[in-house]
Amino acid sequence: MIIEQSPPLRGRVRISGSKNAALPILAASLMTAETCVLRDMPGLSDILVMKGILESLGSETFYDNENECMSVNAGKINEFFADYGMMNRIRASFLIMGPMLARFGKVRASLPGGCAIGSRPVDLHLKGLAALGADICLKRGCVEATAEKLRGTEIHLDFPSVGATANIVMAAVLTKGRTVIGNCALEPEIGDLCRFLNVLGADINGIGSDTLVINGVEGLRGGDYRIIPDRIEAGTFMAAACGRPGGNVVLENVDTSHLRPVIAKLREMGAIINEEENGKKLTVSAQTRLNASDIKTLPYPGFPTDMQAQFMALLSASTGRGVMTETLFENRFMHAAEMSRMGAQVKINSRVAIVDGVERLAGCPVRATDLRAGAALVVAALGADGITEILDRFHLERGYFRLVEKLRGLGAFVREG
Ligand code: UD1
Repeated sequence: MIIEQSPPLRGRVRISGSKNAALPILAASLMTAETCVLRDMPGLSDILVMKGILESLGSETFYDNENECMSVNAGKINEFFADYGMMNRIRASFLIMGPMLARFGKVRASLPGGCAIGSRPVDLHLKGLAALGADICLKRGCVEATAEKLRGTEIHLDFPSVGATANIVMAAVLTKGRTVIGNCALEPEIGDLCRFLNVLGADINGIGSDTLVINGVEGLRGGDYRIIPDRIEAGTFMAAACGRPGGNVVLENVDTSHLRPVIAKLREMGAIINEEENGKKLTVSAQTRLNASDIKTLPYPGFPTDMQAQFMALLSASTGRGVMTETLFENRFMHAAEMSRMGAQVKINSRVAIVDGVERLAGCPVRATDLRAGAALVVAALGADGITEILDRFHLERGYFRLVEKLRGLGAFVREG
């Protein structure tokens, strides 16, 4: 992607459906033999990989690119093994475990891949499935899970893992009895998954709290569901709007209740943010360079790790020093080295980055090392002097739908290289 020195971003942008809500919901479509119609489904490469995984198991899928709508029918599942070639591309592929186990009592899958941002184990997923009564065995890089009969139980997660919560919820929905999951993830994408499952006939209570109570049901029907707006895409556009003084961007199709930590931090740094239409729309503007601030990533509703890189780009051109602490992933500062090429002053010590703001970054060739690192380079480039060439653009295509088109709509000088 080539970004030339651009004016401050101005205009309107519509935020797409959430990738991280869509992926578990797609996995959950495996739990019913009837058709699921999923609206606001972004046509991202990660979504297409998940679509491919569902198809490889026997689901019939259709994606209407223009209307961003996917229909999935898992009435003819005939495969219970997802191989390495499928699974190593996205971490969310592991979310097929809970649904397949719940509906068919067997599944075998290669351990998942995904962004290279740390070791990312799946022990909490497996502990939860085992607690429900599954037999788990690890063989030659594959996990095999089988269960004669799952039974509802009490599970208390050691850590509120998003993926583990999703997998355990899905397995519990078709499990006899009551399952209580304590210390579960509070991320809005978990709430969206639970609401979707309830539309299909599941009985999940406590949505939005740290304890989910699931009464098992015999089976699920089909349903029609609209995915929540992508809070990380929204946050990225908010950061981009503030990257150069004079920016003024209206974001449509947002849920500001999911954006609290990002809104609070940007306001603290000097941005002006107005919420309209019951929190479905917001305007973000910055008249001057932002002031630096200290940021620490935490599970929701703390500051999202998926916004850490984009905020490092903002800190790099803010006034003063900001300390960024990453508590979720142990290797998630790879963008710092690329931003340094653009003149950013970042010192890293393990999970802490000290960022001294400079007046202006300078464009140059840089490489996206993962999805959000790529997003950070876009934010940095939009505020920089000169031309930035971002290599390995495919990372961005995993998580930002129609990015070039949307940025151009806001006046940025962007093109695909
Ligand atoms: C999800 C998001 C990802 C986001 C992350 C944290 C999707 C598809 N991805 O990833 O974009 O960055 O939440 O908000 O929704 N952990 C374990 N054992 C496990 C599971 C997780 O130790 O079994 C650890 C991880 O290594 C990590 C932390 O828990 O340090 C958080 O991971 P988790 O919440 O599971 O994130 P993901 O679901 O992988």
